[in-house]
Amino acid sequence: MKNHLSSLLALLIPLLLSACSDQVSFSGDVMPILKNNCSKCHTRDGEGVAKSGFSVADYDHVMKGTNLGPMVVAGHSEISSLFQLISHQADPQIQMPPHHPEALPEGRALALEFEQIETIKDWIDQGAKNN
Ligand code: HEC
Repeated sequence: MKNHLSSLLALLIPLLLSACSDQVSFSGDVMPILKNNCSKCHTRDGEGVAKSGFSVADYDHVMKGTNLGPMVVAGHSEISSLFQLISHQADPQIQMPPHHPEALPEGRALALEFEQIETIKDWIDQGAKNN
């Protein structure tokens, strides 16, 4: 009986853990958020690209960051500028998307929803993979 129980647990525990860890997919989860909320300013000759060099056209562009360097530190959302800018930690004037009255005069957009911010946070913390 004891043996049965432990082999059952040995089977179940990895299953439970994998169900909990909720792997975020770049193409399936992150890209749709960037497309809907950032791409009008951050692809091709959009004003965000023109001013900062940051494009969300694809994974390689997101990882390349701005003209000054990367915005994503794989595994560390807490020191990733991308996360700071979308999660209300940055100065209102530079939060992304620009949505505060003090924000960029060029345009207004809606702040991301809590779940969207969490999705991007989890993606960075899980290694910012191209998955
Ligand atoms: C309405 C247009 C607009 C939208 C929408 C927008 N941005 Fe921006 N973004 C800008 C502009 C303009 C700048 C340049 C700011 C500056 O340097 O003056 C910028 C700069 C940035 C930068 C570089 C900041 C730096 O320190 O150099 C990042 C990263 C960024 N945006 C991410 C995002 C993300 C992520 C989204 C979507 C969640 C987003 N932006 C949505 C206009 C936009």
